[in-house]
Amino acid sequence: MSVTKPTPHDAALMHVTGKARYVDDTPMPANTLHLAFGMSDVAHGTITSINLDAVKAADGVVKVLVADDLPAENDVSPSAHDEPLLATGTVHYIGQPIFCVIATSHLAARKAARLGQIKIAEKPAILTIDDALAADSKFEEPLTFLKGEPEGILAQYGTDQTVTGTFELGGQEHFYLEGQAALAQPQDNGDMVVQSSTQHPSEIQHKVAAALGKPFHAVRVEIRRMGGGFGGKESQGNALAVACAVAAQLTGRPCKMRYDRDDDMIITGKRHDFRLKYTVAFDTSGKIQALVMHQYARCGWALDLSIPVADRAMLHTDNAYNLPHARIISHRLKTNTQSATAYRGFGGPQGMVPIERVVDHIAHKLGCDPLDVRRVNFYENGQTTPYHMTIEDSVITPLVGELRKTSDYDARYAAIQKDHADNPNSILKRGIALTPVKFGISFTLTHLNQAGALVHIYSDGSVQLNHGGTEMGQGLFTKVAQVAATTLGIPLDHVKITATDTGKVPNTSATAASSGADLNGMAVKNACETLKKRIADFLAPDQDVQFANNQVSFGDTSMPFKDAVSQAYQNRISLSSTGFYATPKIKWDRMAGRGRPFFYFAYGAAVTEVVIDTLSGEYRILRTDLLHDAGKSLNPALDIGQIEGAYVQGAGWLTTEELVWDDKGSLRTHAPSTYKIPACSDRPQMFNVALFENENVEDTIYKSKAVGEPPFMLGISAWVALSHAISGCSTTGEYPAINAPATPEEVLKTITRLKGESW
Ligand code: MTE
Ligand code: MOS
Repeated sequence: MSVTKPTPHDAALMHVTGKARYVDDTPMPANTLHLAFGMSDVAHGTITSINLDAVKAADGVVKVLVADDLPAENDVSPSAHDEPLLATGTVHYIGQPIFCVIATSHLAARKAARLGQIKIAEKPAILTIDDALAADSKFEEPLTFLKGEPEGILAQYGTDQTVTGTFELGGQEHFYLEGQAALAQPQDNGDMVVQSSTQHPSEIQHKVAAALGKPFHAVRVEIRRMGGGFGGKESQGNALAVACAVAAQLTGRPCKMRYDRDDDMIITGKRHDFRLKYTVAFDTSGKIQALVMHQYARCGWALDLSIPVADRAMLHTDNAYNLPHARIISHRLKTNTQSATAYRGFGGPQGMVPIERVVDHIAHKLGCDPLDVRRVNFYENGQTTPYHMTIEDSVITPLVGELRKTSDYDARYAAIQKDHADNPNSILKRGIALTPVKFGISFTLTHLNQAGALVHIYSDGSVQLNHGGTEMGQGLFTKVAQVAATTLGIPLDHVKITATDTGKVPNTSATAASSGADLNGMAVKNACETLKKRIADFLAPDQDVQFANNQVSFGDTSMPFKDAVSQAYQNRISLSSTGFYATPKIKWDRMAGRGRPFFYFAYGAAVTEVVIDTLSGEYRILRTDLLHDAGKSLNPALDIGQIEGAYVQGAGWLTTEELVWDDKGSLRTHAPSTYKIPACSDRPQMFNVALFENENVEDTIYKSKAVGEPPFMLGISAWVALSHAISGCSTTGEYPAINAPATPEEVLKTITRLKGESW
């Protein structure tokens, strides 16, 4: 059986030797042209004149496009039709593309793009959450989920059994190692073939077709792999692919575009930053009785995926905790900044951080171990979420119980508490936190939960595999090949994985919501089963035919898979099949806030111990223990890789990664020099990662669970541990109430406040 084996990523060797090809590595066709955007340097205003004479006269420039030059639709939004490829009349953020240079080299295009003379009559810009609230600038009316009567219950509790708070939760740059890139090649009759670094080839196909004024069948999109996407390549690649296709149509030459890192950070959307506001009532054991939570999402200038992202934040406000009475109110604010987009967890992280803050705050008020408060609030099966879905698969209590033991949490927590009490003036202070994760698996837009596959068996018994999912480093292609090998009973190296191609499998969803293996694995299994049935019906119609160990067996007969295939071919049996899968059981009414949006949940928990230097605010992660539920893992090596990477990315979001816009709306952190992602040296000094022994109660692909996003939120434990360390500095007993990211500056600021000193 190939599934459940810790097989290496199919491209691991090529990744580490630099041989894996990305879009920008594809050998360029002769006469390829290169594109660069000229951008707005004003956050909000009306374009009064565009003078591109110097751009056109620059070395190597072949053509320059503005909105009026576009042949058909001028839109690169995922659905709302509110995002022109090139600005028309009004500019909405600093970095918005206004014109597009087509030149003979990448450098020539970039140099020329700086020569545009654009006059813009500035208008007041709405940049921050405060600005948006003051101007009532929003995409839609606030959405509310309600369970029970939270206000009535809150009114019954006094100040000793309620806490309230407000805090800020920063955004995050994706920082995929491979930047956005696309290459378009014109074909006969104006058809177009596009290579795009995208998680969503079908959307690229649709946007390119609309921009060229063609039906979908005229456009084929291909992608072998991305050097990371993390949600940043669900919709943000549209602009490059559409620009290349339009330029290719107008010039008749192949056109390529890749963003320089600074441009990538300035132009593309990031994780939504949020403000959270909570009031909670609890009993003397810390059990939550009622919660009211306001979530303010800064969505940027265009809608992009903000509605489903903000919805998913609401859907994760409970995390792993039963909330008997809850009101969750989500505000979707419109600002003159990059249009915030999908990012690992898709709003889930922004929903979970606040409830972890709430629980920590309750424990502080009660003066007890936060883990005790967490445990009394954990879901039991049969309880319902604030969106009225019954929990049936919770393993959070046993999972946390196991991690508590293996991480030696109790003794370590007690030692740190003692150290805080005994050494109030020590310069180095430690902190520890155990936080849980419960993450819902399925797209909340129900129709997206479908996938297709195409499997060929060649007459020599080798297999070629295609499906609608994309590879971005997560190992989807390896897992799906394992599924094919297992279903057909053949060795893994007999299965060839091929580039995602809209010409092979149509009408696909983005590889997102962690559902790549769940959906595409099932579609591939379905195709392989069709093929097995055809071969079996031909060889031995009335018998039980087994495919295992590279043999096909029935009765007393056994023959190599290859011979069975060869015989089937000789007898004119089709050896190519499509496969399809649609997730069962899900049903969701977002306006009512009711239903079953998720097929199942993935669970996990993390313990992080940190040490802070109270004089500088700097810190280190000393030790991290993770225990994560990947169901019956399809591939434990890949899953552990996902869990480690996700934790580090999640911890980075909440600690050192800080996006700073100036008062004009210009992003000042647009390179690694000013935007600090975790480096190897920031990894926990001790890092123990294990899979929880479990299998999915639902009928998923070989009983596995999705793993791409859920462990991202294990990183929350690092932030809560910092809060615990800081609490050791409090002379007044005041709650630390840190914001995120807890940069050294934020840590030092909080310590200063807790010591009653001025900053
Ligand atoms: N892992 C790597 N190495 N690179 C990525 O870009 N993206 C994450 C996650 N893990 C990502 C990753 C995100 S945002 C999602 S939704 C899932 O992978 C998508 O892939 P899957 O559905 O196959 O898990
Ligand atoms: Mo992942 S944010 O769903 O691409």
